[in-house]
Amino acid sequence: MTLHRSILGTIGDTPLVHLGTLSARLEGDLYAKLEYLNPGYSKKDRAALAIIEAAEQDGSLQPGQPVIELTSGNMGTGLSIVCAQKGYPFIAVMSRGNSVERANMMRALGAEVVLVEQAPGSVVGQVSGEDLARVEARTLELCRERGAYRADQFLSEACARAHYENTMPELLRDLDGKLDAVCDFVGSGSSLGGIARYVRDHGLNIRCYAVEPAGAEALGRQVTSPESHPIQGGGYSMPELELLDPALLHGFLSITGEESIQAARELARTEGVFAGFSCGANLAAATRLLQSEERGSRIAFLACDSGLKYLSTNLWSDTPQHEG
Ligand SMILES: Cc1ncc(COP(=O)(O)O)c(C=O)c1O
Repeated sequence: MTLHRSILGTIGDTPLVHLGTLSARLEGDLYAKLEYLNPGYSKKDRAALAIIEAAEQDGSLQPGQPVIELTSGNMGTGLSIVCAQKGYPFIAVMSRGNSVERANMMRALGAEVVLVEQAPGSVVGQVSGEDLARVEARTLELCRERGAYRADQFLSEACARAHYENTMPELLRDLDGKLDAVCDFVGSGSSLGGIARYVRDHGLNIRCYAVEPAGAEALGRQVTSPESHPIQGGGYSMPELELLDPALLHGFLSITGEESIQAARELARTEGVFAGFSCGANLAAATRLLQSEERGSRIAFLACDSGLKYLSTNLWSDTPQHEG
């Protein structure tokens, strides 16, 4: 066992699990990397730590300066933990469309949470690009008012670097290099962007696939009027992502909200992996790949965050009771 000097030492190095029951139904192997075992229960802890450390190093963040970020909750939770440990007040700006667990958790971790009303016609639990634009506008306002450092997860190179330097090497270490494909639901694109760049730089034959919500695709096909969807943490229909170069990707998969829900439930029931919507989308995508062009492959994906973050949502609230 390792003794950590602070909670920050527990970020990363998450376990990888072979999904034996689900793989046995398919040709190939599925592996889930349990990012929800990070201290903020999501993969964004990695990016949060990387952003703050990079800003400390390049001098753009001064001791005690407030930090601010737009968040769907996970980045904010990671930043709440990192900032509290390092002595920076943290302000999280979030749409009211995101689940209440997220706001409560950030407050519990010492953050100030500013909630922004959704655009007229938006649905709670379904944060649209328009909702996100409102959160962005409020973030910029507050940033000026408070003289805060903007963490900027959509632009910060440090986020993708965290996955380049850690997530992908961990995957390869745990699989002894025997990995054929990775798929990941895209938000800022930092995770998949970092992984895909690692693959390119090391000349590996590992295919990287982007997962997007059906009806709100921006990479696989350029949907002009995106539909809302329940897959929190991404699918913002942003055609240009600073941290993800689509040229490095082998393909794109569209997954419906319903498919992501059914897959997340199946994953919890059969494998004991209790994760959120985006992990469900990743599993649905990986399953489709094993049934088509990646038949026989070893596919890894991230269990991006914990299912506990969605107890108030229809991901679990109307889970059918299983007999026997
Ligand atoms: C639950 C969840 N899934 C997926 C993503 C997308 O990750 P990335 O921003 O690295 O593309 C996020 C990002 O916040 C997230 O919170």
